[in-house]
Amino acid sequence: MTSHPSRRDFLLAGAAALPLAGQPVAQGSHFTAPAVIIPPDSPPTVVASANGIRGVARAMELITQGVDTLDAIVEAVKIQELDPEDNSVGYGGLPNADGVVQLDASCMHGPTKRAGAVAALEGIKTPSEVAKLVLRYTKHILLVGEGAQRFALQFGFRIENLLTEESRQAWLRWRANLNPDDNYLDVPSGERFPTPPTGTINCCAVNARGEISSVTTTSGLAWKIPGRVGDSPIIGAGEYTDNDVGAAGSTGLGEANMKVCGAFLTVEGMRRGLSPTDACLETLRRVVATTEQRRLDPRGRPRFDLTFYALNKRGQYGCASMYAGYRAGHFAVHDGSEARLVGFAHLYEGEPPS
Ligand code: GLY
Repeated sequence: MTSHPSRRDFLLAGAAALPLAGQPVAQGSHFTAPAVIIPPDSPPTVVASANGIRGVARAMELITQGVDTLDAIVEAVKIQELDPEDNSVGYGGLPNADGVVQLDASCMHGPTKRAGAVAALEGIKTPSEVAKLVLRYTKHILLVGEGAQRFALQFGFRIENLLTEESRQAWLRWRANLNPDDNYLDVPSGERFPTPPTGTINCCAVNARGEISSVTTTSGLAWKIPGRVGDSPIIGAGEYTDNDVGAAGSTGLGEANMKVCGAFLTVEGMRRGLSPTDACLETLRRVVATTEQRRLDPRGRPRFDLTFYALNKRGQYGCASMYAGYRAGHFAVHDGSEARLVGFAHLYEGEPPS
């Protein structure tokens, strides 16, 4: 897991004696956050959802050249945003109920403690870049809709058609099957999407100086009500970074995550000393506990998937998904040796019940 095993081993061996930020440092003392800064010099590590396997390689390449962690991970997720084959992100993303692609993205930069986000952005292929511009060049954090688009145009972006032929055909099939009493003929059942797909890419990175960043970008829930905004552009839900502790992000059903501010909760879990994987699992249990009845099956299992990715300041990483079958059970990692897919933890076997 490291190209500097002795340094990493030293850090891990010392972890028990090294209280994480937020832990009580003496009996009777008050919590202070953060209480302890982890020594820098850990090997760089990049973590992403499984569709970020090319991205973690690109981010690591840039980070080892000295590029800032946020700049590196935005370049990583842009690979998916610009890929017409990824129908969950950017160009080629599945559209809303009107057949219009609306994109959400957010990012955080640990060293400068800044955040930026855009929501319901139309016509711009790379919303992660626009979110980074909000972070870097404004006093605001979140721009939405037409204002976000005008902001992007001011920075030289062009309005483009984000709907690929494949996504347009998928939307037409969904619309035809939506209502048996409307004027569209149903298409054969084998051609329809049984449930509205969610996609998204999250990417988090730490460099050798312990500088951490996170980014999440998505086209959101397919066939959503126009104007619907998911978890991805919400700081603390879709992603979160605290440079003293680590970063976390999510993919999956945004509505389930937003009620628990899952990325923030996961970072807070790590602050209390949980491993990244255990912090993700704890957040998933909270999600289940806060899920309304209509989204649960008779056994109390969620009818949706949701996955959290986490990385701490030492470069330790983890991921946990609601269901084992999500994205073939993997997430993407580069910890200095190579980009690879790693199995994640899960709460339930199989796929979400319908
Ligand atoms: N997690 C992506 C969305 O729900 O929009």
